[in-house]
Amino acid sequence: MYSPEQQQTLTELTKKILSDAEYGIHQVPVQFAEQLRELIRFHEWRYYIMNDPLISDYEYDVLYKKLQETEQEHPDLIIADSPTQRISPDISTGQETVSHLTPMLSLANSYDLNDLIEFDNQIRKLAGIDPAKKIEYCVEPKYDGGSIAIVFENDSLIRAATRGDGQNGEDISNNILALKSVPRKVAFSDHNIVKAELRGEALIRKDQFEKINAEREEEGLSRFANPRNAATGGLRTKDPRETADRKIEVFVYQLGFAVDSNHNDVLQTIPTHDEGIELLGQLGFKIPVNERKVCHGIHEVEEFCQLWQKQRDSFDYEIDGMVIKVNDRKIQELCGYTSHHPRWAIAFKFQAKQATSRLEHVEFQVGKMGSVTPVAKVTPVSLAGVTVSSISLHNEEFIQSRDIRLGDMVLLERAGDVIPYIVKSLADVRKGDEVPIIFPENCPSCNTRLVRVEGEAAWRCINEKCHEKIIQRLIFHASKDAMDIEGLGESLIRKFYDLGWIKDMADIYTLDYEDISKLDGFGKKSAENLRKAIETAKKNPIHRFLHSLSIHHLGKKASKLLAGQIDNVMDLKEWPIERYLAIKDIGPKVAKNTRTFFTNSENVELLERIQSAGVNFLSTNEDKPTIGREDTLLSGKTILFTGTLSTMGRKEAEKLAENAGAKNLGAVSSNLNILVTGENAGSKLEKAKKLGTVEILTEQQFLELINN
Ligand code: IVH
Repeated sequence: MYSPEQQQTLTELTKKILSDAEYGIHQVPVQFAEQLRELIRFHEWRYYIMNDPLISDYEYDVLYKKLQETEQEHPDLIIADSPTQRISPDISTGQETVSHLTPMLSLANSYDLNDLIEFDNQIRKLAGIDPAKKIEYCVEPKYDGGSIAIVFENDSLIRAATRGDGQNGEDISNNILALKSVPRKVAFSDHNIVKAELRGEALIRKDQFEKINAEREEEGLSRFANPRNAATGGLRTKDPRETADRKIEVFVYQLGFAVDSNHNDVLQTIPTHDEGIELLGQLGFKIPVNERKVCHGIHEVEEFCQLWQKQRDSFDYEIDGMVIKVNDRKIQELCGYTSHHPRWAIAFKFQAKQATSRLEHVEFQVGKMGSVTPVAKVTPVSLAGVTVSSISLHNEEFIQSRDIRLGDMVLLERAGDVIPYIVKSLADVRKGDEVPIIFPENCPSCNTRLVRVEGEAAWRCINEKCHEKIIQRLIFHASKDAMDIEGLGESLIRKFYDLGWIKDMADIYTLDYEDISKLDGFGKKSAENLRKAIETAKKNPIHRFLHSLSIHHLGKKASKLLAGQIDNVMDLKEWPIERYLAIKDIGPKVAKNTRTFFTNSENVELLERIQSAGVNFLSTNEDKPTIGREDTLLSGKTILFTGTLSTMGRKEAEKLAENAGAKNLGAVSSNLNILVTGENAGSKLEKAKKLGTVEILTEQQFLELINN
């Protein structure tokens, strides 16, 4: 949508406007407003569509406010498609678009006590409230995820959509149905509600986010910058299982619409926002609990906001502020709405967790797959309570696209517990002695010329004898994620490698503990502890062992899938590529790399040495796929799919059922336990109904069942 040149021009203009408070004054207003509109649209596109913002939320707000001010001063400049006249940018991804029952508005922002007092006064004016009377506000977190609207009719979830442009969003029903945190059957009818629309935010817990990124790195995929991007991306995947896999959770924060069977507004009967949320909690939704408070007067509001600003890091999810809502619905009605936001609510934005520091030098680190990662060493700086001195620059493209130079002042950001990252370099404050970062042509460890594989961002050392690469593989082999050998960490591995005691993985299992106990800092006891840890690791299930081999792209998940299909690790020596590819979710890269590994004679020799050192090569109970296991939901059940499935093919569905322990049948009979019906399910459905013993599930119910 924007060419690289356009993006560069717009980025430069943004910098100019943000750094020069006087900038707009020298401009003809009509041109300045147009520039701001163009910039806001561009940054909204980077934020919402590309999931890769170039500026902070605060900087975006500055641009937005400047446009608002310019338009207020010159109302004739307001045009219908100005960003201030609508809610947020169009999101078009080719998914079906649906209209929200009521517009999904945005929020006005505030940053300090003065803004809050002004808001409080405004409410008094709009609703005619006596200055002496304290207004009741409900304060809750401003969740930093992806906003969604969920519609229930006759107690069933019938639709879920992203926010989109506020009027229309993208239909993501299938993905939301796959989530455990959203109930699909809800007793709204007990409260006289026939149709309701809820608003909420899809989030990923901070610790889960770290897990996702670790897995992605292993699979050679790029990391998500923050939990929000991982969540919004997850909402819009084509595969509901991917959404569920990311463990997206939905918190609801607004009952936006509720009518009874005569289309009468039921919200009228729920006098306060707080009671509305409480009701949603009772009905089974995730709601803010300790993080929500009814405050009396704006000073109590400010105290609660400050408290959460201080303790936001200890919260499991990302929040970027608090939302203050007039509690009483009648007062809300008196205040009304602008086209952009309700006048009865405001967001209190926390200070951004940003800092600036100087980029002193760049270290190039070799990874276990040989990829060379540039790591920025910055002057130590405190960033949201943590001292930061080392930050990954990921790859050459990352450096170039952000024009990061040695000696630059860089803007750092840290979202929650998430690893800090460089948002941008501050080109405006360059002194002239900053120099471009030169990426090495040769491996910093073994000096072999680096290569770049097509389609990959990383430069790699392809020398299999590269010391650093070997050491990194040994470290990974013993790590928690792989063989989990307690006590055998990086420093010990480096020591043993230097001593020549561990040259490859097999050597780990034939160490001489007598020699070890004589090492400086070691004794009989610690040598014995290490022996025990290594002996325990020998008994590991084979999926751990497969993962520990550092086969490119063979991550934890694929290792488990593979382990489930073999009796002995050595079986893989005989496997043709087709057998790998026949396993669902094993892609061509994993197939090719694993096949290459197991057909290489040096590797086979290494495996034989490891096996004779006593490492378990036989499939264990833990390696077995779920089929036939006692504890799975569908184990021992028979199942049949009929009709056209909407989210997957028939074969795929059968495989899923099989993995969950079920047996697929070809026809409806008295032996059949479950019938899953897609669109146009015909005679099989009729027959099953007649039998009366068959449990009939929709595709979504089936998906939810196996995801549970
Ligand atoms: S209320 C009519 N409450 O913030 C009510 N919004 O700028 C309008 N958000 O994208 C929204 N936490 O998804 C509300 N507790 C909360 C929220 C919240 C996060 C998001 C919302 C929207 C943005 C508004």
